[in-house]
Amino acid sequence: MVIAADKIAVLDFGGQYTQLIARRVREMGVYSEIFSCTHPLEQVLAQGCKGIILSGGPSSVYEDGAPLPPKGLFEAGVPVLGICYGMQAMGYLLGGHVVPAERREYGRAEIELHAGESRLFRSITPDADGRLTVWMSHGDTVLRPPKGFVALGATPNCPVAAMADEARRLYAVQFHPEVIHTPQGKKVFDNFLDICGVNRTWSMAGFVDTTVQAIRDQVGDERVLCALSGGVDSSVVAVLVHRAIGEQLTCVFVDNGLLRKGEAQSVVHTFRDAFKINLIHVDASARFLSALRDVTDPELKRKRIGAEFIAVFEDEARRLGKIPWLAQGTLYPDVIESVSFRGPSATIKTHHNVGGLPLTMQFKLIEPLRELFKDEVRRLGELLGLPPEIVWRQPFPGPGLAIRVLGEVSTARLEVLRDADAIVQEEVRAAGFEREVWQAFAVLLPIRTVGVMGDFRTYAQVVALRAVISQDAMTADWARLPYDLLGRISSRIINEVKGVNRVVFDISSKPPSTIEWE
Ligand code: XMP
Repeated sequence: MVIAADKIAVLDFGGQYTQLIARRVREMGVYSEIFSCTHPLEQVLAQGCKGIILSGGPSSVYEDGAPLPPKGLFEAGVPVLGICYGMQAMGYLLGGHVVPAERREYGRAEIELHAGESRLFRSITPDADGRLTVWMSHGDTVLRPPKGFVALGATPNCPVAAMADEARRLYAVQFHPEVIHTPQGKKVFDNFLDICGVNRTWSMAGFVDTTVQAIRDQVGDERVLCALSGGVDSSVVAVLVHRAIGEQLTCVFVDNGLLRKGEAQSVVHTFRDAFKINLIHVDASARFLSALRDVTDPELKRKRIGAEFIAVFEDEARRLGKIPWLAQGTLYPDVIESVSFRGPSATIKTHHNVGGLPLTMQFKLIEPLRELFKDEVRRLGELLGLPPEIVWRQPFPGPGLAIRVLGEVSTARLEVLRDADAIVQEEVRAAGFEREVWQAFAVLLPIRTVGVMGDFRTYAQVVALRAVISQDAMTADWARLPYDLLGRISSRIINEVKGVNRVVFDISSKPPSTIEWE
């Protein structure tokens, strides 16, 4: 899908901030795409990239098999910006002197800028102490820049903290301009984009126009099917494809009866009533519940739910007749191939594929969000007029409440959890923590405890409250919610949800725990 004329390529050497580099460039109105450092250079150049950024990475240029870009990169006439390992690789390949640092430099550092101005540092002003605050994380260091380069600044540990060859438009920085701890980092990208001479035409509104047109061209007058879950990704896909082809789109919403309180109604209301999308609401709760009968093992729950989803979806697709296209909400982090040299830096969780569709179903795929990051999808959702409760919905697992009702799943237990969870959602939102936490939810434990209500002894159920902060769900820490918020949630659940007499708060981090309890 052609999105914008001007593009910046980011070659990934396995650094942890590679995606951040691509985002910073996009934030400045230029489309950027990540390529593995092993991707053939001719192919990258053939796409018309107006500039190339070399990412950081964990390797040392002297290691056996260290990933190095082809030397031809520096002769292609395209501006190049090397960051951290990217700088070391550039320095090494072009004949500079790169050595292992005497002391590793990690964290905040102060650069003393040399006299004279480089285009890379235009309008960058030193702090009050005459130095530039940056964020470093490196072992190897460029001791002497290659011929043709000048050093732009130094730290006590790093004699060449940045370097430039203005004539060849080759630039490099040892620090990380992409992280927020480098306060003037954005300006470095801004300057590099000026050097590349790119048009800053990448915008969400522009994305909508080109994507809508691309979908129309791709699909022609054929029909498209979309599995709508109510999560932000599939919701944005549905609305975007609907904008492109209207009536040719049919959305199937498989209601597995494992959603949160009011969620199914809200999906139907939003898409059918507000957006006038052709929506089929399949109430399959009974099927899912019977597939889960007597099942207590978490993995078996996932397998049964996954299989049932496929069965229901296939039934519906069959009833709808031949539909050649399937629209899916695949995002950029899911598709970045091979990114790092030593294995993917974006690892996809294999067990999180409930909602995945059967391989036997033959569809041509439309994946209009393939180039977007999650926060971009949210902005797109807002632009398309989706309500905030969908745009800002926290991640919700495909198996839904089935893996939060620990042990056996029944209608009655689902009801208890749904009511308790609704209180958690309400209170967390009211206290302004909804966007701060990655996820906050209730879990129904498979035990009962003793309590006292009025003059009566009770022997009732326990709800656990789980709230975590996280960047990507790979690691997480428990959210330090204020005591009074915890108190309010607890007393409301115990008072309002029949059958619950105790609430506990989960204070485990991931790892070694996980976010979900099952
Ligand atoms: P864990 O529990 O592994 O969860 O720390 C990480 C993230 O993934 C979600 N999750 C799932 N999502 N199907 C999904 O679609 C699943 O089976 C599943 N299990 C966990 C979880 O909510 C968290 O955001």
